[in-house]
Formats: sequence, C-alpha cells, structure tokens
Amino acid sequence: MRKILVIGAAGQIGSELVPALREKYGNDNVIATGRKTPLPEIITENGPVIYLDTLEKDLLSKALFEYDINTIFHMASVLSATGEKMPQTAWNININGLINVLEAGRRYNIDRIIWPSSIAAFGPTTPRENTPNTTTLQPTTMYGITKVSGELLIEYYFKKYKLDTRSMRLPGIVSSETLPGGGTTDYAVEIFYEAIKNKHYTCFLKEDTVLPMMYMPDCNKCMIDLLEADVYKLKRHVYNITGFSFSAGELAAEIKKHIPEFTIEYKPDYRQEIADSWPKSIDDSLAREEWGWNPNYDLEKMTEDMIEKLSKRL
Ligand code: SER
Repeated sequence: MRKILVIGAAGQIGSELVPALREKYGNDNVIATGRKTPLPEIITENGPVIYLDTLEKDLLSKALFEYDINTIFHMASVLSATGEKMPQTAWNININGLINVLEAGRRYNIDRIIWPSSIAAFGPTTPRENTPNTTTLQPTTMYGITKVSGELLIEYYFKKYKLDTRSMRLPGIVSSETLPGGGTTDYAVEIFYEAIKNKHYTCFLKEDTVLPMMYMPDCNKCMIDLLEADVYKLKRHVYNITGFSFSAGELAAEIKKHIPEFTIEYKPDYRQEIADSWPKSIDDSLAREEWGWNPNYDLEKMTEDMIEKLSKRL
C-alpha cells in the first residue's frame, strides 16, 4: 500500500495533487506538508498534515519514520521569476532541499520519489520548436540551473543507490484553485482572474510569446501515471511532457469568446527574457510511448472549464 508524503502541499500543484492522491490512495495514506503558506481547508480537513521544511533534515527523517512513508512527491521549489530576484535562495531551497529528500529516501528505503523538472531546464541554445527529450540543456535562469542539476542528481541517486526516481519536465500549469507564485507562466492563470473580476488584464509578456502549457487535471494525471508506470517500461528518469502551446494573444482571444468585454494590454517586463529562453513547443513522444502519457485538455476545453469554475467562486 502506498504511504505518500507530499512536500509543498500549499503550492499551486501540491494543493490540487493532495486531494487527487487522497481520492486514489485514501485520505490517511497521503500526508500533506507545508512550511510558511497555510494549507487550504480541503487538505487540512481530510487527512494528515504536518509542518516540514526540507532544509531541516531531522524533521524530514522524523516524518518518513513516523508515517511509514514509501513514496515522496517533492513539489517545493522557488520558481523562475522569484529565482532571478534571489538566485542564492533558489539554489539553496531547490538543490539542498532536493538532496535532503534524496538522502532521506536512500536511508529510509523509499520505494519511489517523484520530483518535477521544468521546461526551464532548456535554454536559448535548445531547439525551440518541438523540443526533443534529449537535447542541449544550457538554461540561463537560476531556476533552470537548479532543474538541470536536479535532473542529474536524481539520475545519480538511481545509478549509485538504486533509488527509484522519476521526473517530468512540466510546462506552465494553468489551474483554478491556488495561484502560482513567482513563475514566468503565471500570466496564464492571472489573466482568468482579471478577466472575470475586472474585464481587463495587463500582461507582463508580449502578445506573440508562445509557451507550452498544461491544465491542472492533466498535471495530476501525469503525476499519478508516472508514479504508477511499470519500472521495466521506463528507459529514462526525466520525461518531456506537454498539453498544448499558445501565445498570450491566443489565450486572450479564447477568453474573449466567453467574456466579449475583456480587453488586454501588453507591458513586457524582466520575465519576457526568461520566456524567450524557453521552448515554444515540446516533443513528448517518449512519455507517450513509455508510460502512455495522453492529456485530455486543449486550449478551448481548458478556457471553458477555468471560466466556469472561477465565475462560480469569484
Ligand atoms: N511555471 C514555471 C515558471 O514559470 C515553469 O516551470 O517558473
């Protein structure tokens, strides 16, 4: 039976991953951890919750021991835009946090560790269209540097210690429950809130900036599918995955179909340079071949669902 520790449960992905995992594996078998940000009620009311800072090794060991954990989702990370404001902190949390998790995983015989990488692992020297799984990884952001280093680390822990580590390079994630914080793809979530509340959005990226994205239900699906994938079918530890790509202008046009009064203006800031260093579209054929990755949402379906969910709530 899986006993899962989700590190970073207050974050954009963690806050929706925990309920999805609890539905599949049982409320008491999924332990949510948070640090500074309070956890949402849906998480605190339905199952175990503990305080955890991955930089405190003893707390991590205690949690694994006390809850008899055999599976870890390590979702805590400083994202790309915040990482450029405080690169040393990004390195500390993203890399020292990860190595503590890997070390604890090795010592406590953890059966499986899922840790997301990102499209930020790519850089300006990577082919930007249909970016292959194996290609140049020369990112120019600290966040990207921690993702490439992390990819190498999880492969090393497998090779050296036989720790079953698995990773997917996440594109921008669009979601309706928790706002992302400090990423370059955050505009694709903020735009929905502003379109519904104020009918206007000032976008920090240019109109024609195309980035790979994915809707949260597909993100949950991809986490669970990779966790469950048969180890004998997996030929690598890190997989490209994507939902679909769109530009800021295309997303705005899709929103306008539902909210005709919606207007948008573009005032690119320092995040434009980050976006320009990332791929426009991703080749995820290896994930499809090796563990059956297959997203359900496209731009139209996602926009419809986001507007429906947020309109009810806001
Ligand atoms: N969503 C992330 C960011 O923008 C990409 O992994 O930083």
